[in-house]
Order: sequence, then structure tokens, then C-alpha cells
Amino acid sequence: MGSEEKSEQLKIYHEITLPPQEIVDLFKVTFDNELYGAEGIDELQSQIQKVKSDLYNRDYIAAFGNDAKRTAYCCRWSPSRATAYASLFAHLQECAQVIRCKESDQNVLCIGGGAGGELVALASLFTPTREFITKYSTSKQPTTTKNSLNVHLVDISDWSAVVNRLQSTISGKWLYADESKYFKVHSSNRDILTMSEDDLSLSNLDLITLLFTTNELFSENKQQSIRLLQKFNQFCKKGCLLLIAESAGSYSHITVGTKKFPIQFLIDTVLMGKRGQDESGAWQLVNQSDSTWYRCDPRLDYPMKVENTRIFYRLYRKI
Ligand SMILES: C[S@@+](CC[C@H](N)C(=O)[O-])C[C@H]1O[C@@H](n2cnc3c(N)ncnc32)[C@H](O)[C@@H]1O
Repeated sequence: MGSEEKSEQLKIYHEITLPPQEIVDLFKVTFDNELYGAEGIDELQSQIQKVKSDLYNRDYIAAFGNDAKRTAYCCRWSPSRATAYASLFAHLQECAQVIRCKESDQNVLCIGGGAGGELVALASLFTPTREFITKYSTSKQPTTTKNSLNVHLVDISDWSAVVNRLQSTISGKWLYADESKYFKVHSSNRDILTMSEDDLSLSNLDLITLLFTTNELFSENKQQSIRLLQKFNQFCKKGCLLLIAESAGSYSHITVGTKKFPIQFLIDTVLMGKRGQDESGAWQLVNQSDSTWYRCDPRLDYPMKVENTRIFYRLYRKI
């Protein structure tokens, strides 16, 4: 289908992030017991098979239905996601600026971000900025000038055990005690579709990510998903970024009247108005790709498969 010729490539390693091996090592350290423990990897593999079969049947609630399945998903898929997202965030300068901003606190909302891919990717861009400050700061540069990255993970499944473990490794191995207080993570085990603009602090957000989650929201409730985007239109502040990504070519279709449209057309219309016909849109498209590969470094050392990812993405900015 020509995806090779037309695809953009993300860098294996973008120098403003921690190296991919360090990203993957974070998962190895966090899930040491499951990946290398006495029970061996077999128990994890059996949980992964269950998750795969639920995902194949598009039964997303069942796929993330208990801690064993969530841990298995995280061990199997989040390292690939985290390395790809780190490279994507770094590639999208606007996103990188938010994550690495040294002037003021920044607020990021990750919708469906419980599995930790986004969290680890954000930390992999944030940590080097802290190391720089630590390494080069002197007593003349008081630490009180430091700003925070506030990350709000909202997920309908209860990923708290996974997130707490990842966060503790990020604090212990990457940021250390002094710096980890500036990487603030808050998790809400909620259905995003029923949360208000105040629950989400929409007017304070600098970046919203909706990664590999849009299809699920639309399959759960199309009307409420559209309403969520309309809330973004109404309440997000000027300059806020919205990054949507899905597996390339996997976008679901919806039927309007007698016609079938890919969801992306509906999303564009809700966010930007009818392009070419009016200028009423709340957001402008800053960057986009229908097919972008992230190919992992084949030398990565991880006890499970780390996959290449082909994504579709769109980055919007609130006008
Ligand atoms: C396919 S996973 C993607 C996870 C992660 N974003 C990634 O890229 O690896 C989709 C996530 O969306 C969450 N989710 C689905 N419906 C949701 C809803 N209505 N509100 C919040 N989270 C939801 C699921 O629990 C799951 O964690």
C-alpha cells in the first residue's frame, strides 16, 4: 500500500531525550519481578495472550480489567510506546517546548495515559533539562526559580499500581529526590467522557495528549466524544496544544446519514470548522502525518518484543 515510500521516519534517538536503552531499562527495573523473577516470564506471557485476545475483540474494558493484565500490557507494549512517543514529542518542537519549558510551570493532560507510555516519554524529555540545571546551577541561581511539569493522567481503568511503580523508578533512577518534586504526577481513575472542564482544568492546560485512545472513546460513546472535543473548543486557552495519534490506518469509521467517514474528518471538523468554508474553527493544524514510522534500535536489550510503530498523528494549536 505504499506506506514505506510515503512514510516519515522518526529518529531512533532524539538527542533531547534520554537514550532509548535508558527508557527501556526503566521498565526493566520497575518490573524486575515480573520480567526476571522466579516464576519466569511465563505467567506474564499468559496474561499477554488474554490481553491480546480482548484487544482483538475490541473489548477494551476487559483488556485492562485487572492488575495482572494491566502489568502485562505495560511490560509488553509500553516500552515500545514510550520510545516512540519520546521521539515524537522531541520531533514536534511545540510539544518539546512545553515539556522542557524552563520559564514557567506547564500542565499536561494525558487522556487514556494510564499504561505509562506517555508518562515515561514525558519524563525522558524532562529529566535531561533537570540534569542540566543541577549540573550547571550555582548558589547564585536559587533553586526556587525552578518550574514544574504537572502531568494529569486520566484513565477509565485503574492503572494506579503500574503508575506508582513507574513514578517511583522515575524519581529514584532519573530525577532523584531534589528534582522529582518538580515532575508532579496526578492520576484520575475516571471516564474522561463524564468529566467536567473544571475536573480537567481545561483552561490551564498547555498540552493534551490523546494517544491510541481516540478509537476507544468513539466506540464507547460517539456523542460524548464529540462533546469532549467541543469542551476543548470552549475552555482550552489560546496556545494550548492537542496531540492525537493512532496506529496508522486503524482509524475507525463513523456513519453520518448514508456516508461513512474516517473519524479524523469528524475530529477536524469539530476542532477546526469546515475548512475552506468558514474561519470559525477553534484550533489550527500545526503538524500532521498520515504515516510515520518509529523503528526501534534493533540492539535494544529487553526480554520481550519491542515493536516498531507506524502512527498517524495530528498536532493542533488553540487559536
Ligand atoms: C489502547 S490503550 C492506550 C494506552 C496508552 N495511551 C498508550 O498509548 O500506550 C487505551 C487506554 O484508554 C483508556 N480509556 C478507554 N476509554 C476511556 C475513557 N472513557 N476515559 C478514560 N480512559 C479511557 C483505556 O483504559 C486504556 O488505558
